[in-house]
Amino acid sequence: MVKILVIPGSNRSGSYNVKLAAAAAKELALLGADVTRISLIDYPLPLYDEDQKVSDGIHKNALKLAEMISVHDGVFIASPEYNSSISPLLKNTIDWISIIRKKDDKPWTPLKGKIVGLGAASPGNLGGVRGINHLRDVLVSVGCQVISEQTLVPTAGKAFAEDGSLIAERAVRSLSNSCQSLFRVSQALG
Ligand SMILES: Cc1cc2nc3c(=O)[nH]c(=O)nc-3n(C[C@H](O)[C@H](O)[C@H](O)COP(=O)(O)O)c2cc1C
Repeated sequence: MVKILVIPGSNRSGSYNVKLAAAAAKELALLGADVTRISLIDYPLPLYDEDQKVSDGIHKNALKLAEMISVHDGVFIASPEYNSSISPLLKNTIDWISIIRKKDDKPWTPLKGKIVGLGAASPGNLGGVRGINHLRDVLVSVGCQVISEQTLVPTAGKAFAEDGSLIAERAVRSLSNSCQSLFRVSQALG
């Protein structure tokens, strides 16, 4: 069974990206994936500090997240846009995981080759496209295989129903395409 990890890049209560992550998880489950949806609230990490890493080692929550990523074939990230770029929460999380090189004294780079699908929800008209493009660059730079299809949810305040489901038609179609591609590529290469 194809295993997909779904990560919202926001911990905000009422987050549009948490809702987008939930919609992606539902779509992927309908395709037959074994989906795990997590919240980064459960994996708090200090702002990355090289001196702290040298003195204390790699943070246990970075190692836990790395383990979660490595046991899944693919990952879906729903990413907020901050000042036209990646959210600090996601960047910090990726930075921590990207420095992992070993497990049980054997080489281990959990992000290398990982299949990743991206989505973004934003109250603005651009739907977070600038942030998602930066996120794509960051993930590619650490060795992830980011699929081409991506989902943008502009004017996110109107895109979700009261129960949290995604109702904006274009975004629904786009999410379906993104999830199908993530599922297929994860199945083939994950
Ligand atoms: C510091 C900061 C910068 C932001 N910059 C942008 C931006 O460049 N583009 C945008 O569409 N929204 C921007 N926003 C608004 C976020 O998209 C909005 O807060 C959104 O709800 C965050 O995602 P979430 O709902 O998943 O928490 C910014 C918000 C903050 C706090």
